[in-house]
Amino acid sequence: MPVDPAPRRLCLVTGASSGIGAAIARIYASHGYDLALTARREDRLLAVAEDIRLKHGVEVQVIAADLADPAAPDRILGEIAAHGRSVSALVNNAGYGLTGRYVASGWAEQAAMLQVMLTAVCELSHKVLPDMTQQGFGRIVNVASLAGLIPASPGQPLYTPIKAFLVKFSETLHLENLHTGVHVTALCPGLTYTEFHDVNHTRKTLSRRAPAWMWLGADEVAAAGYEAAEANRPICVTGAPNKAIAAIAKLLPDEWALALMGREYGRLRGH
Ligand SMILES: NC(=O)c1ccc[n+]([C@@H]2O[C@H](COP(=O)([O-])OP(=O)(O)OC[C@H]3O[C@@H](n4cnc5c(N)ncnc54)[C@H](OP(=O)(O)O)[C@@H]3O)[C@@H](O)[C@H]2O)c1
Repeated sequence: MPVDPAPRRLCLVTGASSGIGAAIARIYASHGYDLALTARREDRLLAVAEDIRLKHGVEVQVIAADLADPAAPDRILGEIAAHGRSVSALVNNAGYGLTGRYVASGWAEQAAMLQVMLTAVCELSHKVLPDMTQQGFGRIVNVASLAGLIPASPGQPLYTPIKAFLVKFSETLHLENLHTGVHVTALCPGLTYTEFHDVNHTRKTLSRRAPAWMWLGADEVAAAGYEAAEANRPICVTGAPNKAIAAIAKLLPDEWALALMGREYGRLRGH
C-alpha cells in the first residue's frame, strides 16, 4: 500500500511583502516548506505568494495584518490554526527605521515601532515555541541588524536598542532550546538593498556616502540566515566587511566607540 508522504512543514514570515522577508520566504519554499506570509500590503503579498507557488509548488497562505495592532499576532496564528496548520518555522522580519532624534517623532510612532519590532516578535515566539518543542522541531529567525552589535548612534534611538534586544533575546532562546530540535538565530544584516531606505527616506544620502562594498542583496542575506538557522548558530552577521565591523566593535572601549559612532553617523547621514 502506498504510504502517505510526510506533511510539509509551515514557515510563517512577517514582513514578507518585500525585501529580506520575501527573499527568506522564497528560500524556505525552495526547501519544501509551505508558507504563511504576512505584512500590511495585501496586493504585494499576493504577488509574492503567486510567484512562489508557481516556482516551488508549495501552499502559501496570505494574511494581511498590521503588526502595530496588538491583536495582530493572535489573529495571524488563529488564521493559520483555522487552516489546520501549526508553525514549524517563524521568521520575525517585519521592520522599518524612524529617522531623527527621539523627540522628533510622536510617542504614537515610537510605541508602534516597539509593538511591531519587539512586542510582536516576543509574542509570536512565545506562542509558537510550545508546539515546536512538542514536535521536536522548530526554527526561529529573528531579523535583527548589525546595528544591534555595534555601539549606539544618534538618530536611531529605538531602532538600535530594539535590534540589540533581539540579539540577546535570540541568544537566550537559543540556549534554552539546545538539544530540543528547536534552533533560534538572530540574523544581523548590514546595509541591504531592499525598500528599507526608501521607506525611511535615507536612500539618496546613503547611496552617496556608503560605498558599494557595504551593501548586500536581499537574496544573499536570506540564504545566510537560512543556513545559520539550519546550523543552529545563534548569530549570523552577513558579509565579511560586516563581520569585521562587528568584531572590531567588540574590542573598542565604549568611550572611543561612542565618539566614533557620533562622527561616522553624521558623515553617513550628511549632518
Ligand atoms: N535593508 C537593510 O539595510 C537592513 C539592514 C539590517 C536589518 N534590516 C532589517 O530587515 C528587516 C526587513 O527589512 P527590509 O530591509 O527587507 O525592508 P523592506 O523591504 O522595507 O521590508 C520591510 C517589511 O516589513 C513590513 N512591515 C513594516 N511595517 C509593518 C507593520 N506595521 N506591520 C506588518 N508588517 C510591516 C513591510 O510590509 P508592509 O509595508 O506591506 O506592511 C515589509 O514587508 C527589518 O527588520 C529591518 O530592520 C534591514
